[in-house]
Amino acid sequence: MIALIIGTHRPGSNSAKVARHVAQVFAQLGEPLAVIDLAQFPPDAFAPGAFGQKSAAVEAASNTVLQSSGLVVVAPEYNGSYPGVLKAFIDLLPFPAAFERRPVSFIGIAAGEWGGLRTVEHLQGVFGYRNAHIYPDRIFVPGIYSKLGPDGSILDNALVGRIERQAAGFIRFVRSLPPAPSIDRTGVCSWSLQPGSAQELLERLSGTGVRALQLHLDPLREHAASWSGIAQLCAARGVRILSGMMTCLGEDYSTLDTIRLTGGVVPDGTWEQNLANFAANARLAAALGIRLVTLHAGFLPHDESDPAFGKLLARIASVADLFASHGLTIAFETGQEDASSLARFMGRLNRSNAGVNFDPANMILYDKGDPVAALHTLAPWIRQVHIKDATRTLTPGTWGEEVVVGTGQVDWPAFFRALRDIDFRGHLCFEREAGGQRVADIDAGRRFIADLKY
Ligand SMILES: Cc1cc2nc3c(=O)[nH]c(=O)nc-3n(C[C@H](O)[C@H](O)[C@H](O)COP(=O)(O)O)c2cc1C
Repeated sequence: MIALIIGTHRPGSNSAKVARHVAQVFAQLGEPLAVIDLAQFPPDAFAPGAFGQKSAAVEAASNTVLQSSGLVVVAPEYNGSYPGVLKAFIDLLPFPAAFERRPVSFIGIAAGEWGGLRTVEHLQGVFGYRNAHIYPDRIFVPGIYSKLGPDGSILDNALVGRIERQAAGFIRFVRSLPPAPSIDRTGVCSWSLQPGSAQELLERLSGTGVRALQLHLDPLREHAASWSGIAQLCAARGVRILSGMMTCLGEDYSTLDTIRLTGGVVPDGTWEQNLANFAANARLAAALGIRLVTLHAGFLPHDESDPAFGKLLARIASVADLFASHGLTIAFETGQEDASSLARFMGRLNRSNAGVNFDPANMILYDKGDPVAALHTLAPWIRQVHIKDATRTLTPGTWGEEVVVGTGQVDWPAFFRALRDIDFRGHLCFEREAGGQRVADIDAGRRFIADLKY
């Protein structure tokens, strides 16, 4: 989401009229703006006490800025600079997260002939100081009173064209950059919370401090009555559904040997029914607006000449193609094989809508190598990451132990540095599969990751 700041609170502001036109242009380009209008703030928003106790309006605007992928600032020229109220607002925003590595684009408005040049250049000084990414194509509007009709519409076609070009260019600019560090890309795996219904899921999620989900799709298919309102409930509570997950029939995770035999699409006896379930899940995902669904494919044979390799490749290709027909991406869980075997398999699969869901703890649980090295090996295919921790087994052939994030053997600073190095832009979903206090454990993991220095 891109946010727009109207840089004055003067009643009848011409900048606000131009800003409204800018918002329409972005909406037409498929990128509706979240508008922050300083004229809507209550007077106490800028009272001396506001630095200590922020008003609800400033809090809401701060959250909008922090979650925005970019900012458009439309500001008038006041006394050779920008309005004091805009500086007061900037000074109330979180430092450094509000502008750090956030793309920003400027439009200056003025009655006089300099068209807000000084306004924009003074703003560039402040945003440059705060390490924002400044979009180079700025707009300066001189003689604003002659450029607006009585209804606030823009009369100058050349200006309309400049706004359209700047908007399209800025959207491309925003999409080409990595997300700003403050943008919350985390979710919670719904199955970690062991809910029996949509209502229960959202109640438990609220205790984790995370406001987005990776949704287990099978219960929606199997127990439709308990899950029918999930989309509406999420929308009402401002919870985003980031992706889906599905399982295969008859999977038995009791030991490494049972999962080798029963996991994923490997067993012949359940293949036809699994495929039918996948088709229903794909329809469900598409109806919910989900773009990515993950699953455990099962143990892949190491030896490519093994007939089981070709059979598995064909099955997984058919699953990928089924999801492609719904415009969906499919991602396979990591960990059941080492990273280079999975990378080889993904190369052979050769489907643009197929990738991996990288789980660093699984590499440890299954004893399949170093998660940070694996992340680099699998980088071209990583579509989503699970935030999960584990300790390695001391008895070869048995599971390691899954533990609270931050208390296991995943080297989280190195892991997040590696995510930055590979320029990973997808979502990070907390998964907790053991223990009887999942909500508290995920909350602890969330706080650990939020405070992580890397
Ligand atoms: C306090 C104040 C100072 C202003 N100083 C300037 C100025 O230095 N240069 C200029 O071209 N216009 C100046 N203007 C006129 C604004 O550019 C004009 O009002 C324009 O409509 C944009 O501001 P608005 O969004 O408040 O309407 C000033 C207006 C106000 C209210």
